[in-house]
Amino acid sequence: MHDQDPVLVGLTLEVVQHELTTVKPLSSPAPAADLYAALAGSITDEGIGPAGAVSLLRDVVGANSMNVSSPNVLAFIPSAATPASLAADVMLSSMNVIADWWLEGAGGIAAENHTLHWLCAQVGLGPHAGGVFVSGATPGNLAGLAAARRWWRSQHPGHGRERLALVCAQQAHSSIRMVAGVLDVDVVLADGDEFGRLRAPDLEVALAEHRAVGGAPVFAVAATAGTTNLGMVDDLVGLADVADRESIWLHVDGAYGGAAVLSAQGRTLLAGLDRVRSMVVDPHKWLFAGYDCCALLYRDVRIARAAFTQTAEYLEAVEVSPEEWNPADYAVHLTRRARGVPFWFSLATNGVQAYRDAVDTCLRTAHEFTAEVEGAPHLRLFAPTTLSIVTFTRDGWERADYERWSREQLAAGRFFIAVSEFRGRPLLRVCIVHPKVTIEALREVIDSLQ
Ligand SMILES: Cc1ncc(COP(=O)(O)O)c(C=O)c1O
Repeated sequence: MHDQDPVLVGLTLEVVQHELTTVKPLSSPAPAADLYAALAGSITDEGIGPAGAVSLLRDVVGANSMNVSSPNVLAFIPSAATPASLAADVMLSSMNVIADWWLEGAGGIAAENHTLHWLCAQVGLGPHAGGVFVSGATPGNLAGLAAARRWWRSQHPGHGRERLALVCAQQAHSSIRMVAGVLDVDVVLADGDEFGRLRAPDLEVALAEHRAVGGAPVFAVAATAGTTNLGMVDDLVGLADVADRESIWLHVDGAYGGAAVLSAQGRTLLAGLDRVRSMVVDPHKWLFAGYDCCALLYRDVRIARAAFTQTAEYLEAVEVSPEEWNPADYAVHLTRRARGVPFWFSLATNGVQAYRDAVDTCLRTAHEFTAEVEGAPHLRLFAPTTLSIVTFTRDGWERADYERWSREQLAAGRFFIAVSEFRGRPLLRVCIVHPKVTIEALREVIDSLQ
């Protein structure tokens, strides 16, 4: 079982070659019962051998996983992984790099840190900034807010055991409320404006109302740069001002929208991002890396290190100098893969300018599409397009009509656009994170809604 196997290597290379050179059409998965039936005989005493396992991997696993990096996938927040990032993932996996401690994974960790420092510099986080790659914005939000609580308590020595609260907007991603549950802190929901954007006065009102009823001390505000639903950016400058004045931690969930920092236009939209104490941005969303890869960034990594370093007798050998870096010390994890390496590899291969251009292209396409929606007699723009999410409604349609249309488009292999809702009103939501999404293809979306 542990002998090297040239047959397995040959089969692996065939699959990789196929995957990296073929554009997979849009498809829906087979029924669950068929999938389990296909896998039913796969775990046996004798083993089914590499050829049998590879054919199941290709025909069951691969064939029933949607190509979410297709420019025709415009639902949720899709992916636009570059071939370079996917190829790097294959190579990296074959190295089985463990990137928890410098001692074992120095090479991968160095590549990750190099990338994280570059990202911190793009945001403008200052000399003590740094971070770590985690699997997604959900665990990133957890770690950012756990570090925030630790920091707040260090600033308020008498309040070690006191219940605390965080403020976020109604439109904050569901993970923020889930994380608050995990941390067992209260959530103060602020209203935001008509499109759910959190502004300084909303935060001030939420804080005042919360205090008026004797609520738990607030340790953090969790703002969003690019809300999942409408793509809105909270007023980061105003929120940072209030957070500084109130001595609370500003965490920004830029899982989707943080990528816009690479574009000159995007940087203007994200004004104030350089004032966060922690933030997340998912390269697996709009920074063209494969799954799973979230960059969690801290203004002052020393706070995170104090919050997350694990100590044990058997771990003494892995303690390091500040230059050497144990990613395990900066979030809620220990063993981890060097998941930032494929992102680094793609950046290195393609160059930063290609990244800037790709983000700019998505912004431009989204704004062109917005103009087309506004010009279409049967459609109504739902919310102003800020980044690259365009939301709109079709005259006379109810939720069921949108859902039928969405299912039909996917079944026909045309495009995948999911139905969403804002404050009880159904809408269509097109999320453009792939630079190969064309305005011509988007015109077909408009035509199909006639
Ligand atoms: C704004 C925002 N935050 C958090 C998340 C969760 O990200 P992940 O799936 O990487 O945990 C998403 C996912 O779409 C998101 O859009």
